Amino acid sequence: MGFYLKLSALVGVTAALFALYMSGPAFSSESLKGARVLVTGASAGIGEQIAYHLARSGAQIVVTARRGNVLQEVVEKCLGLGAQKAVYIPADMAEPADPEKVVSFAVEQLGGLDYLILNHIGPSPFAFWDGDIEHTKWLMQVNFLSYVQMAWKAIPTLEDSKGSIIVVSSMLGRMCSPFVAPYSSTKFALNGFFGTLQHELAMKNSNVTVSICTLGLIDTDSAMEKVRLAVSKFPEMIRKYTNMTAYPASDAALQIIKAGVTRQSEIFYPWFTYYLINIKDWFPNMSNKVMRSFYSTEPQS
Ligand SMILES: NC(=O)c1ccc[n+]([C@@H]2O[C@H](COP(=O)([O-])OP(=O)(O)OC[C@H]3O[C@@H](n4cnc5c(N)ncnc54)[C@H](OP(=O)(O)O)[C@@H]3O)[C@@H](O)[C@H]2O)c1
Ligand SMILES: *[C@@H]1O[C@H](CO)[C@@H](O)[C@H](O)[C@H]1NC(C)=O
Ligand SMILES: *[C@@H]1O[C@H](CO)[C@@H](O)[C@H](O)[C@H]1NC(C)=O
Repeated sequence: MGFYLKLSALVGVTAALFALYMSGPAFSSESLKGARVLVTGASAGIGEQIAYHLARSGAQIVVTARRGNVLQEVVEKCLGLGAQKAVYIPADMAEPADPEKVVSFAVEQLGGLDYLILNHIGPSPFAFWDGDIEHTKWLMQVNFLSYVQMAWKAIPTLEDSKGSIIVVSSMLGRMCSPFVAPYSSTKFALNGFFGTLQHELAMKNSNVTVSICTLGLIDTDSAMEKVRLAVSKFPEMIRKYTNMTAYPASDAALQIIKAGVTRQSEIFYPWFTYYLINIKDWFPNMSNKVMRSFYSTEPQS
């Protein structure tokens, strides 16, 4: 296809999808009253915001992450915001037994489960791939295998409640960028696994749905730290990224919950991440050039 044909097709599809996005399925937070939800990675960032939205809707929540003292504060805030119930369980998703333990705990505490929101990630460097296999294995357990373990453990309970699994993924699970090889690998793995699971559940007439959420840059402390690091290593980015917008964690959290409640198989936030992913496939040379030009100066260290 010629460039202009591709471009005009893209513009047409954009307009149609944008209209669809703006209309979206109806969502009322009323349906979350009393809903039994397990949220992972809820001591910070987007997961914490998910917990607060659920709390305001009167849900029953179990939150998890490693830091129990921080989770305790999140739980207190949830109860203050109107959660019917809020409890926490500290767990390290790098420990092979912890993911299933957390699901069992949530099912016991809540008497079942309506939503499993998989959101946690372990820290990973923003740097050239240096051959650190051990870190990559560890990150695969934390960011990927633990999601598979928790989802599989929760499916029987979710069948009973006609519940949903919500997976928080990233644009970097759909397109490649330099300096994020281990992280990007874990997100590609999630998209592969949960995309397959969507087919299989549908073929089995399962009551359970899976929603995959593809996010762009969100203004959490950990992501903003990465951007600062990138700018310090690659000063050229200061000029090129000055108007790169990070979208609010609270809004991302709301879109993630909405995806699950309305049982959408896939959502994109902010909306244009969908186009960034597809433009890469349509115009590979141009997008590779643009991607590498962000990091065009020699690294400082
Ligand atoms: N922020 C962005 O720009 C962005 C962009 C695209 C996609 N996303 C996705 O959005 C989700 C949330 O990102 P975020 O920026 O909110 O992350 P974040 O602020 O770094 O929070 C990560 C959470 O995971 C927990 N965690 C870390 N290691 C853990 C471990 N070994 N076991 C259990 N929990 C662990 C952390 O708590 P503890 O330290 O207490 O364990 C924390 O609650 C992730 O799936 C991420 O890939 C984010
Ligand atoms: C779905 O839920 C119904 C009850 O509403 C149940 O009879 C059925 O067995 C469930 N499906 C599966 C695959 O478990
Ligand atoms: C893309 O780049 C490659 C290598 O640089 C080149 O061989 C190829 O012709 C280019 N394709 C287009 C469509 O420009």
